Amino acid sequence: MKILVTGGVGYIGSHTLVELSQAGYDFVVYDNLVNSSKIAIDRVYKIIGKDISFEEGDIRDTKRLKEIFAKYDIDSVIHFAGLKAVGESVEKPLYYYDNNVTGTIKLLEIMKEFNCKNIVFSSSATVYGEPKKVPITEDAQTGIGITNPYGRSKYFIEEILKDLYKSDDKWKIAILRYFNPIGAHESSLIGEDPNGIPNNLMPYISQVAVGKLKELQVFGDDYDTKDGTGVRDYIHVVDLAEAHVKALEYLNSQEKLDKPLIVNLGTGKGYSVLELVKTFEKVSKVKVSYNITTRRAGDIAILYANPKKAKDLLGWEAKRDIEQMCRDSWNWQRGNKK
Ligand code: NAD
Ligand code: WQD
Repeated sequence: MKILVTGGVGYIGSHTLVELSQAGYDFVVYDNLVNSSKIAIDRVYKIIGKDISFEEGDIRDTKRLKEIFAKYDIDSVIHFAGLKAVGESVEKPLYYYDNNVTGTIKLLEIMKEFNCKNIVFSSSATVYGEPKKVPITEDAQTGIGITNPYGRSKYFIEEILKDLYKSDDKWKIAILRYFNPIGAHESSLIGEDPNGIPNNLMPYISQVAVGKLKELQVFGDDYDTKDGTGVRDYIHVVDLAEAHVKALEYLNSQEKLDKPLIVNLGTGKGYSVLELVKTFEKVSKVKVSYNITTRRAGDIAILYANPKKAKDLLGWEAKRDIEQMCRDSWNWQRGNKK
């Protein structure tokens, strides 16, 4: 029995391969490499010391997906494949909806055809829009106030998965809402390697620190937060990867679910932009130049998780602190200057 890992060459997927392997799972990776490079597969191989079944392909390509399901005995899917650049999604909404939503529907159709009904889906805290209160729990409203097509694609997929379960309760579905993943594997062999100028805070900070970018633009210091800058729940990518193993174990341990499992994956702690900069400077001993600028459109002031449900149901909680997140991001960036 194998697990199909769509998007497994990417940032979170590659770290999850390591944890799956360590937990004794057998998997096949399916990725069209639109936002990743096969080098990551070689690096994962270096870490785990086992051959990896990799199949290049697109989740929208049903013919290719059928070949994969016919070739391997797949009993569960961890579905990372998707486009994730918020700004690009505003410019190319149809591309995002086609890739993320249509791609997921095609994947689900083929899973159904092959009677594979276990899926772990990568959702995002972005589905909460502007939260009424923090820490946010899974029962908070979703879908209202999402400011971009990327975020809405995640919300739509969540709704599709809920409807699918209603139509057939043999589906075992885990919807994981990630907060802000940062950090890298301690080996520094794999990490986040964004194309072009990073959109997210941590890769921006680390590229300033390594001299690739001149200075960080801090998007606003007039929010109603501890120091006026945005507050987020940063989570180490290896903690996040471990949660996928726990989610799979949970699905496997249940005969049947009474509804899709929905859990927040965060630490429950919020850090401001400036706190992250200061922590990064402390662990790297490198100065990160920054300039305060205007707010970024669509940003919210503060978002962090209540992670209790993940602990209660999955027995999972984040173990790595903000210093380790910064240290591992820095070590990865230093080794990958290009
Ligand atoms: P990533 O871009 O590094 O990885 C996604 C992978 O999916 C890439 O390897 C890409 O080539 C592949 N892919 C994209 N479209 C595909 C398609 N049509 N067919 C096959 N492969 C395809 O991103 P990531 O940070 O590892 O994110 C993984 C998942 O988690 C995504 O669904 C993302 O939306 C979600 N997520 C990420 C974050 C984050 O901040 N990184 C937060 C919340 C949710
Ligand atoms: C964090 C904080 C910015 C860059 C996004 C997506 C979300 C999820 C995670 C995929 C905010 C500030 C940032 C910079 C800055 N991705 N910032 N200067 O916006 O919380 O979430 O990534 O699902 O869907 O929306 O993350 O890292 O972009 O920003 O000041 O150059 O850093 O304003 O307060 P965000 P981020």
